[in-house]
Amino acid sequence: MGKRPWAGFAASVREDLRPIFSRRMLLAAWLPCLLITALHYRTGAHHPWGHDVLRRLYYLPILFAAFSGGSRGGVAVSVFASLVYVPHAFTSLLVQDPADAMEKGLEIVLYNIVAVAAGLLVDRERRERGKQERLARRLGEALAEQQRTEAQLIRAGRLGALGELTAGIAHEIKNPLHGLKGTAEILRDAIPENAPERRMLELHISEIDRLGSTADRFLSFARPLSADRRSVDPRELVDRVASLISTQARKEGVETAVAPPAPEEIPRVTGDPELLTQLLLNIALNGVQAMATSGGGRLTLGIRADRGGGKEFVRFRIANDGPPIPEDRLEKIFDPFYTTRDGGTGLGLSICSRIADQHEGILEVRNLPGGGGVEFTLTLAAEERR
Ligand SMILES: Nc1ncnc2c1ncn2[C@@H]1O[C@H](COP(=O)(O)OP(=O)(O)O)[C@@H](O)[C@H]1O
Ligand SMILES: [Mg+2]
Repeated sequence: MGKRPWAGFAASVREDLRPIFSRRMLLAAWLPCLLITALHYRTGAHHPWGHDVLRRLYYLPILFAAFSGGSRGGVAVSVFASLVYVPHAFTSLLVQDPADAMEKGLEIVLYNIVAVAAGLLVDRERRERGKQERLARRLGEALAEQQRTEAQLIRAGRLGALGELTAGIAHEIKNPLHGLKGTAEILRDAIPENAPERRMLELHISEIDRLGSTADRFLSFARPLSADRRSVDPRELVDRVASLISTQARKEGVETAVAPPAPEEIPRVTGDPELLTQLLLNIALNGVQAMATSGGGRLTLGIRADRGGGKEFVRFRIANDGPPIPEDRLEKIFDPFYTTRDGGTGLGLSICSRIADQHEGILEVRNLPGGGGVEFTLTLAAEERR
């Protein structure tokens, strides 16, 4: 424990020194600085013009250091240049005239003023640029979020309209069905039990029943879902879905895997555990069914904590190998009654979508790159941590 603050300090010092000793700084500032110094010390006193040129050459590495490393880089090199120049400038002070010494002193002061001024300008420019980049990133995130919400709203609107239409039609069908069944039953009782017509009428009645239960299913789709919201541990949800699906999966030659727990803590979410289980289970079941047609594969369930726009989210992920969904159908699969499966109802995903809406969540689907299968993600707001 006692080691921690020291390690933090060392890390921050390393971080501070990094821009001063970057590769660029070594090549374009420190090395030239050393070269100039070496040349300077080797130039004899009988070449005063050489000394004049060399001492002004220091401005080049100093300026470059400021451009590359900001005020820190600039000042580091200017202080270094001053220190190595001082002995050279003043060792023969006694034999030189005071005006010359004054000029050299001023030059050294100027090294540092130039470094500070250029460095501060660069610092300010970088801060501004950083601010703009952060702003652009936030804008990008907000835009992406808005697009997702919009897609979800469009889907919800379409589902709502379809739901109402369906409920209306189902209702209209159920009323005459009652009448049909009543009269058919009266007729049945009027026909002797062993007459061939009796069997036909039994069939007639059982078909009416089938139609009735189909209409009931459509009606139940339009009915609002009742939600019993409470605090839910996402991990428990995923484990439950994995164990519920595993038998069916094994039967279809599908391997179920729960992705290893993420290193970060997964926050809890608020929702109806039964409905959320139904949502995830529906999607997992679709995945298993999709893979069954292509001879098995792997179903992966996972959760991740995420943040964006100052909020925390939990992202559930269910991915399966197997054939991709044609890109132009990716939105359609959420429509009620859209199905490509023999014996499918096409209601599974539309119910999932409604459950997601009810939890202010976002349900998305995408084909994994390179034909790697299909991935559904459900994003729910995390509970506020206390
Ligand atoms: N994991 C998946 N891989 C490929 N296609 C899928 C997958 N999940 C759903 N689909 C497509 O979406 C359609 C609608 O699914 P769903 O609403 O659950 O209805 P159903 O399962 O009754 O067909 C499916 O028929 C299938 O075409
Ligand atoms: Mg389904």
